[in-house]
Amino acid sequence: MTLAPPSSDTLPRQHPIGVFDSGVGGLSILKALRAELPFEDFVYVADSGFAPYGERDEGFVVERSRLIARHLLDHNHLPIKALVIACNTATAAAIHLLRQDHPALPIIGVEPALKPAIALSHTKRIGVMATRGTLNSRKFRTLLDSLAGQASFICQPCDGLADAIERRDTTKLIALCQEYTGAIGQFSTQTNDIDTLVLGCTHYPFAIEHIRKLVAPGVQIVDNGAPVARQTRRVLTQHANADHTGQITLCTTGDPALLAQAAARWLDLDTSVEKLTL
Ligand code: DGL
Repeated sequence: MTLAPPSSDTLPRQHPIGVFDSGVGGLSILKALRAELPFEDFVYVADSGFAPYGERDEGFVVERSRLIARHLLDHNHLPIKALVIACNTATAAAIHLLRQDHPALPIIGVEPALKPAIALSHTKRIGVMATRGTLNSRKFRTLLDSLAGQASFICQPCDGLADAIERRDTTKLIALCQEYTGAIGQFSTQTNDIDTLVLGCTHYPFAIEHIRKLVAPGVQIVDNGAPVARQTRRVLTQHANADHTGQITLCTTGDPALLAQAAARWLDLDTSVEKLTL
């Protein structure tokens, strides 16, 4: 039997919203989603068994993204009514293909917050930390080209940083943050210096306390959690009832204990984690 593709117009309003990332990083987006949409249920998939995505080839990221989307639609206890790709790398590689695969499903992606950074910057010199996959993608280059002349962007591929966050390797994380912020250049609010830093990977907000110490006071650090959550609210055609208490289901292809610890630490969530084999 072939099932009709799920549509947010026909699915009951209480169906969950799917969220996925290569690992724990997308919890930074889930946090913003919960704040914006407290009545909604969410199912979060961390593909930690296959992380990091940022230094893999595009085909691999596309294949994993398709498997996860399929899983959330077909094998979840309730099929999702919308999908948030809480990963810049997977958005760049796969969002257009997922939209082709599932035309009735609202799909929201994440991209480095360059436009908000232009609005915040006075010196119009902006640093961008992101994965190699994001920075090399056609989608990112098109975004950069569309903003030509509005600011100068210094883009730094941050190999290994998402992995260090994933593994909670604080020594490596601090060393990499030092190396990459140093490579971007001089941060300050003075003319000609970089006064705004974009965190273009959803893992990096979890290193913000270290990154903040490495840039001058007054330098603005921008991520995408809140705008993505607002966009999700806008595209949802079926909202949960306002008296519903939003439930969070966490799943991982990696170590459930690591995702449980990250969710407890960053989202104050005390919940069991389901192990997925995908
Ligand atoms: N958190 C992801 C992103 O926003 C990917 C990090 C990785 O797996 O390399 O790009």
